[in-house]
Amino acid sequence: MPEIEYPLLTERLILRRFAAEDLGPYYAYQSLPETAVYLLNEPRTFAQCMARIARYIEAPFAQAGDWASFALQERTSGIFVGEIALKWGHGGKSDDASREEPARVGEIGWTLTPASRGKGYATEAATAVLELAFNTLGFVRLEARLDARNRASAAVCQRLGMVHEATLRNNTFLKGEWTSEAVYAVLREDYQGSAL
Ligand SMILES: CC(C)(COP(=O)(O)OP(=O)(O)OC[C@H]1O[C@@H](n2cnc3c(N)ncnc32)[C@H](O)[C@@H]1OP(=O)(O)O)[C@@H](O)C(=O)NCCC(=O)NCCS
Repeated sequence: MPEIEYPLLTERLILRRFAAEDLGPYYAYQSLPETAVYLLNEPRTFAQCMARIARYIEAPFAQAGDWASFALQERTSGIFVGEIALKWGHGGKSDDASREEPARVGEIGWTLTPASRGKGYATEAATAVLELAFNTLGFVRLEARLDARNRASAAVCQRLGMVHEATLRNNTFLKGEWTSEAVYAVLREDYQGSAL
């Protein structure tokens, strides 16, 4: 497995490994009900954020089931603006049987601090992660799974050229009501044939 060479750079953002000093800004937006409204989790407590940051700092990306979590930082100001994660999913090919190129499948997800939304940051960061996943890490399919009411997240998927493959109707009982899950995906051949 090629190593992820942190950080990734985009025009306006640095996508880097999480660090201990991210705890304050991470907790500040992860504890907000508005951040969690379409997420499976409730607003996170300080202790939960500490545990997540601790895991993110050292998490390996070595086998199916692992996550690579990138802290997003504005290049000009250095301000923490959110996170993006790449999950190595089960269902791809193993790469230890031969030297032929492995074929991995995975998932991508994003959250931004409220002040950082509406600037194109999620799309910009996700574009860099798609590039990494498809062109360096041997991924052949990436999907995003989101609450079907999450229009902002669906719009990110659409801007990335992801295809709306399904809406799984009322498949999750979330925060007191049944909700539907939308599945968007992009294949490596879609991505390499697109102008992204
Ligand atoms: C989902 C989420 C990350 C989307 O954030 P977002 O800021 O809307 O998405 P982007 O960063 O791609 O920004 C796109 C917006 O910035 C605008 N924009 C402004 N300047 C821009 C620029 N220079 N380049 C591109 N877009 C720009 C776009 O027009 C678009 O606005 P619109 O939606 O009003 O049309 C955000 O709503 C969020 O963090 N939600 C809470 C957590 C969550 O639900 N996560 C998803 C779980 S599946």
